[in-house]
Amino acid sequence: MSARFPEDFAWGVGTSAYQIEGGRHEDGKGDSIWDRFSDEGRLRDPGDFAVDHYHRWEGDLDLLADRGLCYRFSIAWTRVIPDGDGEVNRAGLAFYQRLVEGMRERGITPYLTLYHWDLPQALQDKGGWASRQTVEAFARYAGVVADALGDGVTHWITHNEPWVTAMLGYRDGVFAPGIQDWRTALTASHHVLLSHGRAVEEIRSRVADPSVGIAIDCRPVEAMSQSEEDEVAAQHFDGFRNRWFFDPVFRKGYPDDMMNSYRARGRLDPTVIAPGDLDVMATPIDFLGLNYYTTVKVGAGAEESDDTEVEPGMDPPAGYTETGWRIDPEGLAGYLEQLSIEYSPASILVTENGASYSDGPDAEGVIDDQRRISYLRAHIAAIGRAREKGVPVDGYFVWSFMDNLEWLDGFSQKFGLVWVDRDTGQRIPKQSFDWYAGVARTGTLAP
Ligand code: FCB
Repeated sequence: MSARFPEDFAWGVGTSAYQIEGGRHEDGKGDSIWDRFSDEGRLRDPGDFAVDHYHRWEGDLDLLADRGLCYRFSIAWTRVIPDGDGEVNRAGLAFYQRLVEGMRERGITPYLTLYHWDLPQALQDKGGWASRQTVEAFARYAGVVADALGDGVTHWITHNEPWVTAMLGYRDGVFAPGIQDWRTALTASHHVLLSHGRAVEEIRSRVADPSVGIAIDCRPVEAMSQSEEDEVAAQHFDGFRNRWFFDPVFRKGYPDDMMNSYRARGRLDPTVIAPGDLDVMATPIDFLGLNYYTTVKVGAGAEESDDTEVEPGMDPPAGYTETGWRIDPEGLAGYLEQLSIEYSPASILVTENGASYSDGPDAEGVIDDQRRISYLRAHIAAIGRAREKGVPVDGYFVWSFMDNLEWLDGFSQKFGLVWVDRDTGQRIPKQSFDWYAGVARTGTLAP
């Protein structure tokens, strides 16, 4: 039986500012840590122009118009407050006011993300997320955006993927700002979660009846074998990758096993967690945003790995996408159930899910990306199964609306429902786009 979704289920697509906007020097924008990272030659493709959404936004919104889709986008902090905590740049805010207005005119419901990794470089120069001052700077920024856009935007997401911000940015240093230090990373993770709670307060005090959440990334994990060593490793990986972030947001504080482990290894600065912080981090939210792509199997030695290394030589039944991530829709169904039992969120939105496949236009200009359709179909079906079991999943957002700058991989990884011609900037909807719009229109996977 094919799942039926209710009329008010939110079907959407997502993007983020750095990945699509370009317009690096337009209208007073300041530099972010990704602009700096790019200048240092650490990106395969620079983001200065990205896919030029800054100039093409009207055409981009036209593609979404009247298709019953919601649009999750992010604000570039550096457009709004170029140095992060100084003067507000009205021209930068005006861009997003036009964008939101443009969505309203086209019947598109906005889902606004405040932070999708592009910290103002000026704040990084003062310590970035490792500095407690960044928490207050973020709260102020949230307030400024809420004042400017609160009339047109009901759905708010504070942070995108706090694990990535903290661990890839400050522990592994493979993402901006490129720092490699455990202590700094855990301090950063604390401040990110704290700033989430502060931002929720700021939004609630300014926007009438908002719906506020956070988008947390996950890597559901299984032990590589039943050996005790592998079981312990998988449990630790789950703490490092998942529970460290979900637990505090849902009033559980930091997980004891991880606190003990991090403390024992001198990775936690004892002065960082101040009295009252855990309450702020657990400020009630209206929905949990879940970004889900894949699951991993972890054995001894890989308990703190970032996920590319954790699954040597396995061949999942459903194969891999072109990012090398194993395809595991059942993993999504299972994790949704687990989250709902563990944390009882009032509502869950799958804020990201999607697949990188490079299928491009054929001689007629048609982009027949069946592999993406089957990936999406399987994951939407998995959500249907979780819903049947009572998990309150109320929305699903495909990553991504259009091909864009996939961080370190630049334009080589293509997640879009819409193709972007790199030479001309032309947008061409892939077959998956119309297929997905059909799912959104009918609320069912039936052909
Ligand atoms: C997520 C990011 C998003 C995109 C997808 C593929 O981790 O939030 O920007 O890069 O992965």
